[in-house]
Amino acid sequence: MSGAIFFSTKHGSTAEYANWIGEASGLPVFDVNDTNADPSKYDFLVLGSALIFYKLTIRRWAKANLADIAHKSKILFSVSGAGDSPKLQRWVAASLPEKLLSKMDHVALRGRMDPKKLNWALRLIMRIGAFLNPDPRASKEERVGFDYVDRSSIEPILKMIEQHQSKFAPADMPN
Ligand SMILES: Cc1cc2nc3c(=O)[nH]c(=O)nc-3n(C[C@H](O)[C@H](O)[C@H](O)COP(=O)(O)O)c2cc1C
Repeated sequence: MSGAIFFSTKHGSTAEYANWIGEASGLPVFDVNDTNADPSKYDFLVLGSALIFYKLTIRRWAKANLADIAHKSKILFSVSGAGDSPKLQRWVAASLPEKLLSKMDHVALRGRMDPKKLNWALRLIMRIGAFLNPDPRASKEERVGFDYVDRSSIEPILKMIEQHQSKFAPADMPN
């Protein structure tokens, strides 16, 4: 029984987390835009997704591959500016079909945003968002950016992968 990591990123931090998880667990890592990213070959899946404008960027790929992934055990890691909260859980739930949400453990990781690396349109949207945001801390983050990327935050995911691997390990062969 085997597993693999499939990720969707816009600005790179989800790819960074996916590669760290791949390095530490030995699981293969695929960008969902890669035509070789075929989830039907694997028994359990680690799905990583950026969260942009309240939605998971992996949602279209997840829907397109629903038949291959719905029945499999899955770990989802989301990468967002917001930390784990009921609000984040709502955004995640609204991004994916109900069928996928069962049989899936979710770990919320935090990403980074550097306004200088965004194109002018996104920078403008961020500035308007910052101006309208009533939460002073979130408003500042939208204005000047943030970096919460932390390699140690993948630890719970590595433990979950170990549990999946031991669950799926072949039974000891009789002598
Ligand atoms: C255009 C844009 C929209 C974003 N929208 C949200 C959002 O709705 N909620 C949130 O928590 N973080 C939001 N973020 C922060 C991203 O989730 C964060 O930058 C994350 O690291 C993106 O992952 P990536 O680097 O893999 O693309 C947004 C960032 C950008 C650039």
